[in-house]
Amino acid sequence: MLLLVAGHETTTNLIGNGILALLKNPAQSRALTEDRSKIPNAVEEILRYDSPVQLTTRTALRDASAGGEAIGAGAQTVVLLGAANRDPRTHEDPDRFDIDRSSTRHLALGQGIHFCLGAPLARLEGRSVFEALLGTGRALQPTSDPVWVKQVTLRGLESLRLEFA
Ligand code: HEM
Repeated sequence: MLLLVAGHETTTNLIGNGILALLKNPAQSRALTEDRSKIPNAVEEILRYDSPVQLTTRTALRDASAGGEAIGAGAQTVVLLGAANRDPRTHEDPDRFDIDRSSTRHLALGQGIHFCLGAPLARLEGRSVFEALLGTGRALQPTSDPVWVKQVTLRGLESLRLEFA
């Protein structure tokens, strides 16, 4: 059950968010179509830029601190992965979608002992989809405005209608 739930909407959102980012950045989309060897890096940039999992939670097992704030044992914390992925101290010009970013170090798949169990599968799925879509050589165009799912944890599209040009 966990694998199904953790692996389904997340990967769906990686694909949808990535398609939207490419539609909004046609030069990047063209560059990716011309050189599909950039796809693995582009998938990492999609994960960073529009992270399908925006937040997670942790309970402190002992007294700790983060960013100068004390976190007492037992305290519940919300960890904003999406915000960290747009942190200008880590990512230059973080609001820019750039498939050629030299460092796509991000927290979209978590970190540490609970790092995403399905990360290799998610990356494989993302790469396969963009390989297939761009490999058609036909441009996608939207026929509707994107509608975002109205919840904060999982960031993804409720709908975005597309057709081949
Ligand atoms: C783009 C797609 C995906 C994203 C963005 C994503 C994101 C994440 C994140 C952020 C965590 C860490 C949560 C935390 O530390 O609190 C996580 C954990 C996990 N993910 Fe994924 N995930 C994706 C795809 C998948 C897939 C395809 C599977 C399985 C088929 C999967 C299974 C899991 C499981 C089982 C955990 C819990 C690992 C643990 O607690 O030790 N995920 N994922």
